[in-house]
Amino acid sequence: PTPVVLDCDPGHDDAIAILLAAGSPEIDLRAITTVAANQTLDKVTANAQRICSAAGISVPIARGCTQPLVRPLHVAEDIHGESGMDGPAFGPVTVGVVEEHAIDVMHAHMPATLVATGALTNVAMYLRRYGPAAVREIVLMGGSTERGNTTPYAEFNIYVDPEAAAIVFGSGVPITMIGLNVTHQALVTPEIVTQLNALGPLGRTCGELMTFFAATYRDVFGFAAPPLHDPVAVARVIDPTVVTCVEAFVGIETTGTFTRGATVVDLHGRLGREPNARVAVGLDVDRFFGLVVDAVSQLT
Ligand code: BDR
Ligand code: CA
Repeated sequence: PTPVVLDCDPGHDDAIAILLAAGSPEIDLRAITTVAANQTLDKVTANAQRICSAAGISVPIARGCTQPLVRPLHVAEDIHGESGMDGPAFGPVTVGVVEEHAIDVMHAHMPATLVATGALTNVAMYLRRYGPAAVREIVLMGGSTERGNTTPYAEFNIYVDPEAAAIVFGSGVPITMIGLNVTHQALVTPEIVTQLNALGPLGRTCGELMTFFAATYRDVFGFAAPPLHDPVAVARVIDPTVVTCVEAFVGIETTGTFTRGATVVDLHGRLGREPNARVAVGLDVDRFFGLVVDAVSQLT
């Protein structure tokens, strides 16, 4: 199995990403680290503890950065609610948080693949502190080859901390970028919610998460079903053939007038720069949801 440290900000879709990583035999989930983004660090860390307690996951959970490198924190309460993971009534928390900082926990588990499903603050801080050598690969949910979801051209995770994203994309570590252009294909239909609900208490918790997520995606974006962004990054590690990628140069807009936080993906090589990322362009939707349902049933 591939050793993985999952850096996240749960987050409805981050919670499913945790379950997918922990419930898949192809992944050796070494640690979960948290970063402020969807909600404050305290809230997203509590949410990581809640979902791990519900699923019986006992890997170390470590707190990371409380705010982006430069900008004030911008949370996604409109999408994820006041707690950052509104919807289900979770049972008691049975897993703790380790003392060490997220970046030190990442370091302790290298060499490994870093899967990042929140703002890239912790990952950038890790690279500054420890350098890129021990990171096998960074697979991140963020950006888009098309338009954004937080501003017209910026996706949320990159928008929250574009300076961190610029450090990560400039690091020389092999990077796979899973953007909105593919995650918007991973729509959680009512049929998938029904499948999850049939898997017992943990499945019903997933169903309740998705029902809340569906309501905010309908109200904010007018989507008929919510996109399960973050688990697509985990699926790419489980089975690379589920997500088709092309190599391209990706520039991060840190100073645009209207475009700050945009990922400028040079799909046609117009800038003449060396590619710095594998960029996701296709998703096998049925196999992706098959992996998610299998992982949840594995944990049940
Ligand atoms: C990303 O933003 C967050 O709200 C989700 O958890 C996902 O990581 C999608 O733009
Ligand atoms: Ca996330």
